[in-house]
Amino acid sequence: MDTRAYRLSCLKDSDVYEVDFSGVLDVKTTILQAAADSAYDSQHIMSKAKSLTRVAADIRENDWMEKLETAGYIPQKSTVWILEGIIYYLTQPQAMQVLRILANKCALAHTVLLADFMNKPSTTLSNSVFQFYSDWPDHLLPSLGFTNVKLSQIGDPDAHFGLLNDPLNLFNRLRSLPRSLQTNPDDGKPCCRLYLVEASGSPDQNVSHNGPNTQA
Ligand SMILES: C[S@@+](CC[C@H](N)C(=O)[O-])C[C@H]1O[C@@H](n2cnc3c(N)ncnc32)[C@H](O)[C@@H]1O
Repeated sequence: MDTRAYRLSCLKDSDVYEVDFSGVLDVKTTILQAAADSAYDSQHIMSKAKSLTRVAADIRENDWMEKLETAGYIPQKSTVWILEGIIYYLTQPQAMQVLRILANKCALAHTVLLADFMNKPSTTLSNSVFQFYSDWPDHLLPSLGFTNVKLSQIGDPDAHFGLLNDPLNLFNRLRSLPRSLQTNPDDGKPCCRLYLVEASGSPDQNVSHNGPNTQA
């Protein structure tokens, strides 16, 4: 349900593809159309991307990349993949398959992955909803073929947003504990972490400036 294409003017040279279940995309299209119809200035509710294409697909299935390509996605173009709030809903094999498919794209074009990863204790926040986790995405992603991985924890300078100044804030307390700890020694509670990860790779490590795709 993300609306980056409507919010970010930096996408003006990018072709944006939004992948989601068809029912979700239908609801999104209806809501956005209703908002545009009732807006005082409908220019406020317009995609800022060069193009915006919604692709109905289930990323647990084997055909989602084919569906993207049928919709116009060109694998040879530089691509930023945004997997925000999604991979921990997949099973371990499903998530690994998605990550492998994206890592393989590094051999074709400059590829950037932006994703959030839960660590293992975070999956206990729900009995059944959260499945995939990685305590070490900064090790996992290079093993799949990504060459540069940057990991941030909430509260780090690049994941701070001016909101987390209190050193006693839960996220700040967690950041000071070794990542290998699954349980907080102060209170015996699970160290539930959400890692914000940027990974990239390219055939020759040279960025192609080919008018990038963006997938959300
Ligand atoms: C928590 S939302 C996050 C969406 C977006 N990143 C945002 O911030 O608005 C998860 C989204 O992933 C979609 N989703 C969940 N499982 C999916 C799957 N197997 N294939 C495609 N989309 C899926 C959901 O329908 C939902 O729109």
